[in-house]
Amino acid sequence: MKINPTRKTSIAVVCFSNLRLQQAKDFCQINQLPLLKKKSDDYALQLLFFDDLIELFDQQLNTTISIDFIKGSLAHRQQFGGGRGQAIAKAVGLKSGVTPRILDVTAGLAGDAFVLATLGCPVTLIERSSILFCLLENAFDRASLNEKFQPILKQGFNIINHDANNYITEQLSTSDNAPDVIYIDPMYPERKKSALVKKDMQILQRLHDNDDDASELLNNALLFAKKRVVVKRPVHAETLNKKAPNTCIKSKKTRYDIYTIEKM
Ligand SMILES: C[S@@+](CC[C@H](N)C(=O)[O-])C[C@H]1O[C@@H](n2cnc3c(N)ncnc32)[C@H](O)[C@@H]1O
Repeated sequence: MKINPTRKTSIAVVCFSNLRLQQAKDFCQINQLPLLKKKSDDYALQLLFFDDLIELFDQQLNTTISIDFIKGSLAHRQQFGGGRGQAIAKAVGLKSGVTPRILDVTAGLAGDAFVLATLGCPVTLIERSSILFCLLENAFDRASLNEKFQPILKQGFNIINHDANNYITEQLSTSDNAPDVIYIDPMYPERKKSALVKKDMQILQRLHDNDDDASELLNNALLFAKKRVVVKRPVHAETLNKKAPNTCIKSKKTRYDIYTIEKM
């Protein structure tokens, strides 16, 4: 999946690793990005290839993000996040004896998907940005070497680099592999006070112009999810498509709009 050529942000790849040089060259060729040997002030975002790690550097924030399923904030949330009692778990319908199969069509940094996976759900993630997919794939590769990650892989945790609207209409309409739940977390509208937005989300906002096809995602998801569609929104935001959910679950800053699928 190529990067949107109309993007506003300048992006380059910086390769510090001989081991990854061919991978970096191929990535740059597919995505039509410049390949550098060291960081440069000319690019707002720079994807840094090291021997093991791949991370994304934001020039303006002077910070990097990468994804780590074994340690850091994701592992912390796994340990202290509140288990099946937390709002996201209730939103997807996790309860004793019910462990839904989930399609997360807006993978991003996989924070939400990983929480659901650690609670026992088989999860497939879809991400259309090749930059984010590169970070996700690298996180999977590193985690796969760790035995703590094996149960999650075994129960089903995989990533796909695709546009989710195309994926849903092409893959789910032709087979009976529909997930129980389709989970949608589109980019929030840009906040004026950027201090209110976490740094990793600010970087995501810089990477994407917008997710203006989120309404289409909801429509498609409603056609193909077996049990429910869950949309994550800021607590006071309008519903997607101005479509009223059957119910919603709120936490301090976040609202999960739940659309249940009527069985014929
Ligand atoms: C707000 S982020 C999701 C954050 C994620 N829930 C997390 O916990 O890290 C939204 C992501 O969805 C992706 N996205 C939006 N629309 C998409 C689509 N139609 N197909 C695939 N990915 C999409 C964007 O590229 C972006 O990375």
